[in-house]
Amino acid sequence: MHSARSLPVEIAGTASYLPERVLTNFDLAEMVDTSDEWIVQRTGIRERRIVADDEATSDMAAKAALKALATAGVEAEDVDAILVATSTPDYLFPATGCLVQSAIGAQNAMACDLEAACSGFVYGMGCAAGMISAGMGRNILVIGAESLSRITDYTDRRSCILFGDGAGAALLRESRNGGEIMYAELGADGSNPEILMTPAGAARLPASHKTVDEHLHYMQLQGREVFKLAVNKLTELLLRIPDETGVDLAEIKMIVPHQSNVRIIKSALERSGLEMEKAYMNIDRVGNTSAASIPIAMAEALEAGSLDRGDLVLLLAFGGGLTWASLLLRY
Ligand code: ACO
Repeated sequence: MHSARSLPVEIAGTASYLPERVLTNFDLAEMVDTSDEWIVQRTGIRERRIVADDEATSDMAAKAALKALATAGVEAEDVDAILVATSTPDYLFPATGCLVQSAIGAQNAMACDLEAACSGFVYGMGCAAGMISAGMGRNILVIGAESLSRITDYTDRRSCILFGDGAGAALLRESRNGGEIMYAELGADGSNPEILMTPAGAARLPASHKTVDEHLHYMQLQGREVFKLAVNKLTELLLRIPDETGVDLAEIKMIVPHQSNVRIIKSALERSGLEMEKAYMNIDRVGNTSAASIPIAMAEALEAGSLDRGDLVLLLAFGGGLTWASLLLRY
């Protein structure tokens, strides 16, 4: 799906939340047969954050949401909708969005979850921008939040090195400062779900002793396959931007990619004629936080003062589903 026109919707405020507990590569090397050197070289990750025992996705999402509202100067009661992008909801139902709605006191908001794995936050931005443009809500909170450590198999060295926990939030509203969502491409291919999935714990394979014994409640991924598909699709998305929007890639101030693997992002940027300096990266500190990764990175970049109003920013994602998304915005 491509957006047909630019939407007069802007980011009013963003924020991120990372849990306190740090899991370093050295910690992982005591759990599985791996090393700091291997992980840094193959992924760019040095450490990641892990939720506290009494913390879950909605707690992190609510903290990020309250900070984003404060940054935007918007009261919780004036929020019209809350979309939480997550693959690790607190419960199968009710939605994590509803728990966040109550936690932050946004009693006038509709609330639900949106599951598109690592592309979820950008999907949410696209949906929220469409709703605002259609007059269905003035202030919409889009949140990406994940407790991936809860579905990570810490006996599998091929996957456990990648993932971390955290949350990021953005408040979208009708444009007042010249901001706009200039273009969005949201796509999916569900023909090969097993490339990246958590097989058990839902309707197809309910929890049983067998599913627990076989580690089927944990994420399973065909890493090499995902790597190739991600590089190809991200390159395609990047190269389509100039034709679709008339914006030269050189005019984009910052690319905020899903922090999947530094080598995936480097390859896609190189193939598109771009330097790594264009990308905001925090994967070394945060790891892959799936749907939370882009809003955390975007909030950090804004907090650091790296973006001014009027700058062009490109969000770029690829993940389970498979799903992918690019969204070009004028901040
Ligand atoms: N430590 C040490 N050795 C390891 C580790 C580890 N943690 N993991 C794998 N190895 C070994 C393998 O066993 C293999 O050894 P072999 O050749 O003797 O069989 C060797 O290292 C190379 O393994 P590959 O899987 O080819 O390693 P690769 O360079 O592809 O890196 C990785 C693996 C990091 C998973 C990479 O493929 C990747 O990042 N894939 C995409 C990530 C992904 O699936 N993310 C899921 C979310 S979606 C997204 O974010 C895009």
